Amino acid sequence: MKDSIKELVKKYDTPLYVYDFDLIEKRYNELKSSFEGMKSLISFAVKSNSNLSVIRHLGNMDAGADCVSIGEIKRALKAGIKPYRIIFSGVGKRDDEIKEALLSNIFMINLESIAEMKRVEMIAKELDIEARISIRVNPNVDPKTHPYISTGLQENKFGVSIDSAKWMYIYAKKSAHLNPIGIHFHIGSQLTQLSPIIEASNIVADLVRSLRALDIDIRFFDVGGGLGVVYNDESTISLKEYAEGIKEAIKGLDVTVVCEPGRYLVANAGIFITKVLYEKVNEGKRFVVVDGAMNDLIRPSLYTAYHEIEAIGIDGEESLADVVGPICESGDFLGKDVSLPALSHDDIIIIHTAGAYGFTMASNYNTRNRSAEVALSAGKDYLIRQRESFDDVIRLEESCDSSWQRR
Ligand code: LLP
Repeated sequence: MKDSIKELVKKYDTPLYVYDFDLIEKRYNELKSSFEGMKSLISFAVKSNSNLSVIRHLGNMDAGADCVSIGEIKRALKAGIKPYRIIFSGVGKRDDEIKEALLSNIFMINLESIAEMKRVEMIAKELDIEARISIRVNPNVDPKTHPYISTGLQENKFGVSIDSAKWMYIYAKKSAHLNPIGIHFHIGSQLTQLSPIIEASNIVADLVRSLRALDIDIRFFDVGGGLGVVYNDESTISLKEYAEGIKEAIKGLDVTVVCEPGRYLVANAGIFITKVLYEKVNEGKRFVVVDGAMNDLIRPSLYTAYHEIEAIGIDGEESLADVVGPICESGDFLGKDVSLPALSHDDIIIIHTAGAYGFTMASNYNTRNRSAEVALSAGKDYLIRQRESFDDVIRLEESCDSSWQRR
């Protein structure tokens, strides 16, 4: 493994994202088989890793796609995901996005407010079609995760209350242009405790039962994503207990379970590789300056998220260091107080568990080109995204109107 990483660095340079496609496949199969005995659809949350090859790889295993913009929908379609496996979620959708999604005949649009429902109805009417919809219910359950990635509490911006949802279903049922087929909740991300998910499932399943009494037939029960992974020493949710808990919650309901994992499928399969530029010591504090930065992997800066950091093939006595990037922000770090041996120029450092919300949250801050992405599959490596060049980064500014310049 260590040698192969050196080879990858030689071939593709750094900073570099590398994804183990075999592990993604394993994770998908494990999750899919845990739902055995239930009708299920696993819709990959494209926001976690939207590389076309990653989506295509999951699509080849029959995954659907959970998308939050028309851009993600287009990616999913381009990667070969069938329209009837694509869900359009998100708290704010533009009219043009709604229109294009409807014209693409995707599986369903997830509604997050009454105003949005009316907008979708109006657009469907203009197109003279019926929009398949689900409603995102906010079950007001504490998911016990980082506040920035907690979404199922009343105070969060997501979804609607149980009462509003009921009203919306009754409205949609009467509408000639809305077809309410699903119900949805997603209480947060990186969940490591099962009970909030089951609590939410029970609340939402009860709502489905009461809708049935009103002759509103919900056929898709979307439990969102959120399954946590191990970054450090977290204990994670057992898939068996997860699936069983959901099964128990929907007992007696003839529904297909839809699950929208992102992180669970791709996080552990990804590493971010960076090279040491130099070491420095300021007033006794040790810094390892590397060529990867917060623009490449923002999770440590944004959430003080922990990612395991490993120096490849270097032995020796270790001491604590902050691993920092070249960006002009004190918040630009990949790890703090990391135990590392003495390092020198070009030594290779790996940041683990970087396959989810890594590259997708990357930016060009400080005019840094975004890194290349590589897939590993059955012992071979494949370039799945070229490294950006300076020309790529400035392309959209170059051919613009420059007549604003005063002489
Ligand atoms: N479904 C919905 C409606 C979502 O909002 C999300 C994630 C998912 C599914 C997928 O969640 P997952 O299975 O990946 O936990 N940038 C943050 C995570 C933000 C998650 C946003 N929503 C991070 O780096 O931790």
